[in-house]
Amino acid sequence: MKASTIAIDGPAASGKSTVGELLAQRLGYLYFDTGVMYRAVTWMALARAIPVEDEPAATALAECLHIDVTPPTADDGRQVTVLADGTDITWSIRRPEVDANVSLVSTYGGVRAEMVRQQRRVAGGGHIVMVGRDIGTVVLPDADLKVYLDASVEERARRRWRELERRGEPADYADVLAMMRRRDAIDSGRDIAPLSVPPGAVVVDTTDLSISEVVERVMQLVYERDRDGA
Ligand code: CDP
Repeated sequence: MKASTIAIDGPAASGKSTVGELLAQRLGYLYFDTGVMYRAVTWMALARAIPVEDEPAATALAECLHIDVTPPTADDGRQVTVLADGTDITWSIRRPEVDANVSLVSTYGGVRAEMVRQQRRVAGGGHIVMVGRDIGTVVLPDADLKVYLDASVEERARRRWRELERRGEPADYADVLAMMRRRDAIDSGRDIAPLSVPPGAVVVDTTDLSISEVVERVMQLVYERDRDGA
């Protein structure tokens, strides 16, 4: 039997979304990046002038916001289209102000409970590669294969810095590195569902690996899981 639910976790810019998408293509599975949901809540709070420090207000927003993640509706480099209450926010959720605030909004228990509920519904049918921070630990603890992608913070900051350059939003490397360290600290230090290596996960250090090398490594894990779990 083929591994049907694949959970990929790891810190920011560890390669989860690129690898997750390629893996899903290879397997013919649905690719689902849970980070876009936390980003959607954060962006809508900023857009509606809801203070991101206001936990009850952020939670109420998460509970009433209708987030849709669909296949790309435009050929502009997007992996998916993200709609919030019908508005296309695909690129807005990548803005620096979202980067700066998403980790705080993601510490709120009520926000997480709502996101996890929706994510479990999406994953219910299997044949999915789900990517995030708490997929193997909380959302899908019984996933058929759990992978934890990691890389040095300097390499991850370099990747994010290059990504911003490519998007025409050049930034200072030192600022990107500082932001990365700050987000790492919040994501790993929060009380609820902190970023950690899930029990039973295979850790892949991507610091010196190309994207295709990481994809091959994970595909190998899928084959091994199929063989051993058959
Ligand atoms: O793309 P990047 O790795 O920078 O971040 P992301 O995957 O889009 O996630 C943005 C933020 O959402 C993370 O820094 C976490 O604070 C939060 N998040 C989370 O708490 N749980 C998840 N399953 C996914 C994201």
